[in-house]
Amino acid sequence: MQRIAVSGKGGSGKTTIAGTLARLSGRKLGHVLAVDGDPNPNLGRAMGILREGPWPLLPPDTMKVEEIDGKKVSRLGKPIREILATHSITGPDGVRLLALGEVEASGKGCLCSRHAMVREIVGAAMEEANEPVVLDMEASLEHMRRGTVKHVDKLLVVTEPYYRALESAGRLVRLARELGLAKIYAVANKVRSPTEEEVIKDYFANLEVPIIAIIPFDDSVTEADLEGKAVIDHAPNGAVVKAVDGMLNRLMA
Ligand SMILES: Nc1ncnc2c1ncn2[C@@H]1O[C@H](COP(=O)(O)OP(=O)(O)OP(=O)(O)O)[C@@H](O)[C@H]1O
Ligand SMILES: [Mg+2]
Repeated sequence: MQRIAVSGKGGSGKTTIAGTLARLSGRKLGHVLAVDGDPNPNLGRAMGILREGPWPLLPPDTMKVEEIDGKKVSRLGKPIREILATHSITGPDGVRLLALGEVEASGKGCLCSRHAMVREIVGAAMEEANEPVVLDMEASLEHMRRGTVKHVDKLLVVTEPYYRALESAGRLVRLARELGLAKIYAVANKVRSPTEEEVIKDYFANLEVPIIAIIPFDDSVTEADLEGKAVIDHAPNGAVVKAVDGMLNRLMA
């Protein structure tokens, strides 16, 4: 497993899937970095990693701007290990969580584009610190335009089985292809019937995007949410965890 980003329409299940994927990856690999790129971070709860108080913004020296061939490029201002040592928190199964900080958090945070920050952190994590990465993304399409996923090896596009969600997934796929990402996989989530499964299969067959997992709608996810727990802790042998585990095996194959 290398660097995997989880994208998709708002509410499609990105965080649930990214959190479960990170925990299962940690079990298999011994260590993994989960990056919460959402300005409204909640990946921690989906993984059973809780933090007291809001996530602080990363400090201004996290990024620096370099001029290369007359072009301004944002780079990490310090080694990734230092950023992880001071800002990540460790949870179960060898998962480390780094959130970029909440937009509402007070203090003098880094004002660089958070897209650039996510991009550089994901790139450096694997290259400098040999950490596989699971990145939970915000729902907006903006990160595609800004190349946030440039250093990602595999992009998952999560979709629900209804047409507006599929069209939204289709737009993400097109933008990801424009960015030059080769390994794009669809994840069908909240699937309740064979008919729904067929609709999703037809849609992605037309786009020539492989479906890497079909995850059923499962009440255990809602129950876990109600209790504020990670699905993997609430229903470790449930259908959702099994489906994500199958997906991880395919991603690692
Ligand atoms: N397989 C599933 N079965 C039942 N409910 C699910 C499933 N996956 C996700 N959900 C529910 O869907 C809602 C959205 O899930 P989640 O927060 O993971 O989505 P998201 O794409 O990260 O949302 P956002 O765009 O707000 O970040 C939650 O209430 C969650 O419990
Ligand atoms: Mg989310």
